[in-house]
Amino acid sequence: MKLNGCTALVTGGTAGIGRELARQLVERGARVVITGRDRARLDEMSAWHDSIIPCQVDLAVTTEVDRFVREMARDYPDLSLVINNAGVQQEMELVHGLDMMPVIRKEMAVNLDAVMAVTIGLIPGIAGQGGGMIVNISSGLGVHPKAASPAYCAAKAALRSFTRSMRYQCEDARNRVKMVDAIMTLVDTGMTAGRGTGKISPAQAAAEVIDGITANHNEIWVGKTRLLRRLNRLSPWLAARIMR
Ligand SMILES: NC(=O)c1ccc[n+]([C@@H]2O[C@H](COP(=O)([O-])OP(=O)(O)OC[C@H]3O[C@@H](n4cnc5c(N)ncnc54)[C@H](OP(=O)(O)O)[C@@H]3O)[C@@H](O)[C@H]2O)c1
Repeated sequence: MKLNGCTALVTGGTAGIGRELARQLVERGARVVITGRDRARLDEMSAWHDSIIPCQVDLAVTTEVDRFVREMARDYPDLSLVINNAGVQQEMELVHGLDMMPVIRKEMAVNLDAVMAVTIGLIPGIAGQGGGMIVNISSGLGVHPKAASPAYCAAKAALRSFTRSMRYQCEDARNRVKMVDAIMTLVDTGMTAGRGTGKISPAQAAAEVIDGITANHNEIWVGKTRLLRRLNRLSPWLAARIMR
């Protein structure tokens, strides 16, 4: 995958890992459409560089997602790299009844439904212009869950499965669209504020994802998730226990 001169989309490009992904892609010569809800942060990113194109969209709202995907396909026929990065994680206790369902539905909408819509909506255009790559940012928690965030862990596990199925479909269709699963480690962002230790910086996380993109990997294991991958081969039971 060549980044210089390519057109990319990074969802959730206004903060954390997504902001660093967008910045580093621009530094390597890409033009990058970023999405987010926060107008001020979108404007700050586009003021930073001419190659950032801000797009305000709430990925929890189905109608906005569908409109956004149609506009992306129409306005950026040269799009060749998509990074589905936007995500939310909420801790919740679910042993007391249905109260949390509205929160869960919104979380699933951003972490899973929107990623599926962006992926399947943009594959035809990417295939039509000669191929490219769609990178879905999953998590070590999609390999083994923890107790505190059941909806998040479920969405990330489903996302890993979706990405692999779509990789098979793209390979069978010989459409030159590569589906990549980036398994993210613990990173020091707003999502993890106030919890977790041994976090890596968003800049390092983004750099590892971009290295995996340029190396054309199907899976990009970031930071300590490489250890998780190895441990999971030796003892899935122990890996699950540690992640719990
Ligand atoms: N941080 C970690 O330790 C960690 C670990 C494993 C996986 N990940 C994954 O890495 C990705 C990035 O996480 P992060 O830590 O960088 O998160 P973050 O700092 O909280 O940033 C989240 C980004 O997603 C956007 N976003 C959230 N809800 C949205 C919505 N409804 N509509 C549109 N955009 C929305 C936010 O933009 P606005 O606020 O402007 O809408 C922001 O740009 C996520 O997929 C996350 O699950 C992170």
